Amino acid sequence: MGKIEQRWRRGMSRRRALCGLASFMAASPLLHAQRDPWPLGPHRRFLGFDEMRDVFDFEPIFRANVPLSVYDYTAHGTESEFTLYRNRDAFDWVELIGRGGVDAASVDTSTELFGHAMPSPVMLAPTARQRDLHPDGELGMHRAATATGTTMIVSNVSSFPFPRIARDAEGPLWFQRYASRGMESNREALGTAQEVGAQTIVVTIDQQASYYERDLHVRHLGGAPRRVTRRERPNPPNPYRVGAGRLWYEWTLFDELRPMCDVPMLAKGILTGEGAKKCLEHGVDGIIVSNHGGRALDYGPSSLEVLEEVVEAVGGRVPVLIDSGFRRGGDVLKALALGADAVCLGRASRWGLGAFGEQGAQKVLEIVNAELKQAMAFAGAASLAEIDRSIVKTNFP
Ligand SMILES: Cc1cc2nc3c(=O)[nH]c(=O)nc-3n(C[C@H](O)[C@H](O)[C@H](O)COP(=O)(O)O)c2cc1C
Repeated sequence: MGKIEQRWRRGMSRRRALCGLASFMAASPLLHAQRDPWPLGPHRRFLGFDEMRDVFDFEPIFRANVPLSVYDYTAHGTESEFTLYRNRDAFDWVELIGRGGVDAASVDTSTELFGHAMPSPVMLAPTARQRDLHPDGELGMHRAATATGTTMIVSNVSSFPFPRIARDAEGPLWFQRYASRGMESNREALGTAQEVGAQTIVVTIDQQASYYERDLHVRHLGGAPRRVTRRERPNPPNPYRVGAGRLWYEWTLFDELRPMCDVPMLAKGILTGEGAKKCLEHGVDGIIVSNHGGRALDYGPSSLEVLEEVVEAVGGRVPVLIDSGFRRGGDVLKALALGADAVCLGRASRWGLGAFGEQGAQKVLEIVNAELKQAMAFAGAASLAEIDRSIVKTNFP
């Protein structure tokens, strides 16, 4: 073999050079960072079930478990998502005053709503299509709620039919309804729900014309426009999904629905004192202060900011519940101090179910309840009756 051939033999072939470059690139942290949806996120690996410390720990695991469309459906808010973010900002504008003097182990969070005893004022807000998050869907969520003595409000658009959920339900069960124009279908739905055991009816009135830009762009399909189904075509009648939705609601809706309910009827989606008074005039038995987790009218206020106004207008005549943005026990305490009787968790419970199924949802509830006890101990409140306005200072803009 001549010199030239020998050099060829020992020298790096084009193929080996390319292989080397490819291995170098594959091992490169820079390339890896391109695939990491949160290169600057707090964790460099996914945490295990036993490592969950607060509700936010569940979110990245939920996100990794589900298709992007399902993640976006849970995460999104309306349009610019101003209200979505404002819901969380609002907790920064309320200071807790620490007084101490109470052992967290002795704190009692028990309460009562509509004659039912509850170990905690933390409840589950109605959220749609939970089977997208985990095959157990609402059945798993309800078992998690029951294990912690939590009251669950089942959504009108649940993955399992309400009677199926009720069949297995061992704990408290409420039913949420989006009223339809045809009163007969409302009568039928509310009748069935009560027949199978709904202890309370929640009528949601806020989500009237939702417009979720994240869904419109459907990034998971590479930007292809979402196919509009046959059922959707008449409304909205244009390609931009600007539609009337549920904008037909009027206060008199409650007059029509009230005779259909033999159990308490709550209005969900109230954000003003005036609205709360209207609800009472029209026979409502309880109010849920909510902006649908930032999924209704964008650029509206956070629910925490308007809570006191609503509580004042209601004047103790009916219970006032609240949701939108609650993630921690300290958040719950702030709302209780501003006059809420109970607090509902929306996305937090979905993160738990989507991350670890029933056990995840249960753990979310256990964490928030434990945090609430600790926050109450810090604030020097041994029971809910000892929580008052003096334990918070508000700095709303
Ligand atoms: C994915 C998702 C689905 C929802 N589905 C419903 C529903 O079917 N009925 C309803 O009244 N509210 C629904 N909501 C609103 C919640 O009941 C609640 O108001 C909101 O989640 C509270 O905000 P949070 O998620 O920041 O806790 C939904 C919220 C989310 C995030």
